[in-house]
Amino acid sequence: MVSLVAVAVILLWGAVFQLPQAGAFKIFPSDASLNHQEITEIAIVTKVAAVCRDMATAQGKDFTLPANSKLTVATVQKACSSSNSVLSKANFKQAIVQISLSNIAVDRKQFSDAHHFDNEAFSDGRDLITKGIAKVKINLKEGDYVAARIKLGAVTHSLQDFYSHSNWVELGYAGPYSDLIKPDIPLTKTADSKTATCKNCVNDNCNDNILPEILQNKILTSGYFSLLLPNKPAGKCSHGGLLDATNLKDPNGGINKDDVNSDHGSLHLHAANMAISATMELLEHIRQATSETAFLRLLGLTQISALVFAIDTTGSMSDEIAEVKKVSINIIDSRKGTAEEPSEYMLITFNDADVGLTRTGDVDKFKQQINSLSASGGGDFPEMCLSGLLVALTRAPPSSDIFVFTDASAKDPELKSTVEAMIESTESTVTFLVTSSVSSRRKREVSDSQSSSSRPMSQSEIELYRDLTQVSGGQTLEVTKTTLSEASTAITDTFTSGLVTVLQVARSAGNAGNFSFPLDTSLSSVTVYITGSSLVFTLYSPTGVSQSDSVTDGSLGSIQTVGNLKKIKLKSNSQTGEWSININSTSSYTLRVIGQSSVNILSYFVEISRGGHSDSWGQIFTRPSIGQNATLFLSVTGGESVTVTDVLLVDASGSNVVNGSVTSVGGTDYLVSLNRIPEGAFGLRLKGLLNNSSSRFQRQSSNNHKGSRITVTAQTQNTITPGVPFSFNFTVSTNTTAGNYTIRARTSNGFSVSVPSSLNVESGRSAQGTATLTVPSITESGTDVTLTFEAEAPGSTDLNYAKLRLIVSAASGRFSGWYSFSMCLSLFGLSLFI
Ligand SMILES: *[C@@H]1O[C@H](CO)[C@@H](O)[C@H](O)[C@H]1NC(C)=O
Ligand SMILES: *[C@@H]1O[C@H](CO)[C@@H](O)[C@H](O)[C@H]1NC(C)=O
Ligand SMILES: *[C@@H]1O[C@H](CO)[C@@H](O)[C@H](O)[C@H]1NC(C)=O
Ligand SMILES: *[C@@H]1O[C@H](CO)[C@@H](O)[C@H](O)[C@H]1NC(C)=O
Ligand SMILES: *[C@@H]1O[C@H](CO)[C@@H](O)[C@H](O)[C@H]1NC(C)=O
Ligand SMILES: *[C@@H]1O[C@H](CO)[C@@H](O)[C@H](O)[C@H]1NC(C)=O
Ligand SMILES: *[C@@H]1O[C@H](CO)[C@@H](O)[C@H](O)[C@H]1NC(C)=O
Ligand SMILES: *[C@@H]1O[C@H](CO)[C@@H](O)[C@H](O)[C@H]1NC(C)=O
Ligand SMILES: *[C@@H]1O[C@H](CO)[C@@H](O)[C@H](O)[C@H]1NC(C)=O
Repeated sequence: MVSLVAVAVILLWGAVFQLPQAGAFKIFPSDASLNHQEITEIAIVTKVAAVCRDMATAQGKDFTLPANSKLTVATVQKACSSSNSVLSKANFKQAIVQISLSNIAVDRKQFSDAHHFDNEAFSDGRDLITKGIAKVKINLKEGDYVAARIKLGAVTHSLQDFYSHSNWVELGYAGPYSDLIKPDIPLTKTADSKTATCKNCVNDNCNDNILPEILQNKILTSGYFSLLLPNKPAGKCSHGGLLDATNLKDPNGGINKDDVNSDHGSLHLHAANMAISATMELLEHIRQATSETAFLRLLGLTQISALVFAIDTTGSMSDEIAEVKKVSINIIDSRKGTAEEPSEYMLITFNDADVGLTRTGDVDKFKQQINSLSASGGGDFPEMCLSGLLVALTRAPPSSDIFVFTDASAKDPELKSTVEAMIESTESTVTFLVTSSVSSRRKREVSDSQSSSSRPMSQSEIELYRDLTQVSGGQTLEVTKTTLSEASTAITDTFTSGLVTVLQVARSAGNAGNFSFPLDTSLSSVTVYITGSSLVFTLYSPTGVSQSDSVTDGSLGSIQTVGNLKKIKLKSNSQTGEWSININSTSSYTLRVIGQSSVNILSYFVEISRGGHSDSWGQIFTRPSIGQNATLFLSVTGGESVTVTDVLLVDASGSNVVNGSVTSVGGTDYLVSLNRIPEGAFGLRLKGLLNNSSSRFQRQSSNNHKGSRITVTAQTQNTITPGVPFSFNFTVSTNTTAGNYTIRARTSNGFSVSVPSSLNVESGRSAQGTATLTVPSITESGTDVTLTFEAEAPGSTDLNYAKLRLIVSAASGRFSGWYSFSMCLSLFGLSLFI
């Protein structure tokens, strides 16, 4: 392992990680300096390579990195997933991005000395780190991997800053300071407040400004920093640099190693290297303290999402329930032992009165639960379908797969906008398997008198389900009892690992279309899915060969029809280049082109903040404002040499509406400026070149987004005490319809939260409400609570939400070093604890 580490650090120096970026390690350096993002990424990639190699060795398999031995996200991901088929092809980069975003957000939100090891705040800094690590362990124990990543990111920031801001490197230590990640060992030989540590720099040369006796006696110190006041205790070192006012007071000059041009810039790479080693040591510490499974999930090597079944259990389902169980179990079995095996299983049952929920990580127990289902009761046909789906979306981890089985329309269509917003904010995929039409009709004919009989759903009722699946990148399949099984098999391969979307459109009735899409060299198993009734289509290859829908086994592919679904599996020798498909239909239809590829996109709406220690960005958890500009963070995963040419917002019908302007922030990460957020749902489409321009490629986000004219904000601290009602104020403002706005709130843990049911909002004005959350007194300290609250305009014409991440803490009082304004930020729906 030692040699692997050494190789990685040497090769990665500047060569591979040309991220121009972090005031600690800079966010945007313009030279060869390494920033927090790079340091974090290098540490994770290197650690993961070692973990994958250990796993492969334990199973007697080979683990081979590419010949030139560059450790990058793409090469390590590829090597890991090819040595071990259980390892995910898709989620490693996402974990790195979540951890890094949280790391760099510390410069944006946390201004205390302890967070940055400024002002000799060693013991407070160490407390932050060890308490953070304890919270990561609790999150892992509870299976909340996103929360664990966010906390890990914050901890790594402080840990890394230690090496830039203290004199650890100058003291000549060869390895990281391991006591910083251990809570119980006293920190010795730190300079007390009266000990002088620095002398003036000579002619701007600060190489020798640390006092010789400090170096000889190996006394630990760090630079003092203040934006405003040139105050520091007598004889102390400064942080240094233009923003540091303490720099003006003797002894002048600083000791930071944030970048190569800093006062101790000649030691920058040495400090960054030490920060990488320290971050790896922290990862190893967490690995030892938790199960292998949890550690792999933390770093995105295996799934952190759940497989969820929401099943209608009313009497009208009694004919289908046996088939539904069989299909559910097939779906579960198809993922067992694969990279798509979920971290958790959830079963939601709903009927015309209520909704039940069970969850487990034990697949055998879950299958038993599915098998014991029975359908009974329920008189009238519409069921609490959306309520059931809403529970699934609220309680499941993000990016989960949710299957809804029902034979009836929803009794609760008023929840549509809410469900849509939850799909958007969780990025979960929803598939409806609607067993209506034939079976219901037959049932009605057979037993007209039976009160539990249902009727065929109208197209407009099905439209509701279709709209929701379109937002989520799933599909609505209208099937019968006999075709249910075939339909579920037909869509099973939409869950293979490393699946990407090339094109996705939805068109309303009578809207014929000619859609073109490029297939690139990285794609395999390309499949075209079309849903809709009475439609005709013709597929054209780049060389002009065509195949119409009537040819089930043609030169381009094989066509399978089940219910309203047409699945075209392209021949494995399908050519790269520009394909097109012509579709005409008398009813509405959807088109999706998907395939397997390591090259995919990851995107978040972000807010850029300037100032403080340095420029930075953080994810926003609310809908962006319609008509206003916005910024996206975009990462292309799995590509070695990628050129991004266009980043477009496309409406549901597939037309371009906004062309973004793209700025590289290093590697295959970009910031995309959008000059306006369009009306209506939109997706993200990226076009570019792969393999040094040899292959055009296109990817589209599978889930859609919406903007809003409503703004929802909250001002609150981020910690809540178990058993004590916690209240905070939120504001709703609007640029559109005045009137009574419906307010709703819910938490990921099912804790009760009370809000006023409506707020009267005037256009152009804001209205304030108070929310009260009560966390049961038995809740473990360190648990995260994701609170979503939303405001819906009268007549459901608009809706916006804000998601807050709160942390349960039994300890009363707050950390002494924090400035009050970092605890009381005015949040635009931002994650509170980052
Ligand atoms: C659809 O597009 C393809 C390629 O762009 C073209 O060959 C074909 O003629 C078009 N068909 C129609 C009906 O426009
Ligand atoms: C790059 O090209 C090579 C062969 O030319 C191919 O094997 C590889 O899959 C391509 N990589 C990508 C990401 O397209
Ligand atoms: C679509 O089908 C309708 C009815 O068959 C036909 O009138 C119309 O011309 C077709 N549109 C296209 C673009 O082929
Ligand atoms: C976005 O708009 C605001 C005000 O409308 C403006 O100050 C800001 O510079 C714009 N940002 C970008 C990236 O265009
Ligand atoms: C988007 O803008 C870029 C730069 O102005 C331009 O090159 C590209 O053609 C545009 N793309 C589309 C689809 O309009
Ligand atoms: C892409 O091209 C550049 C220079 O043209 C070369 O340095 C680099 O190695 C190439 N990358 C790949 C993956 O072929
Ligand atoms: C409302 O309009 C004002 C002025 O045009 C704009 O600054 C604000 O961002 C808008 N708010 C929303 C939610 O669109
Ligand atoms: C909410 O706002 C009201 C009035 O604006 C204020 O009196 C109250 O203290 C606030 N509550 C909280 C929890 O901040
Ligand atoms: C809003 O609700 C209040 C109380 O429920 C009611 O008195 C008022 O008329 C409503 N306003 C509108 C515009 O519906």
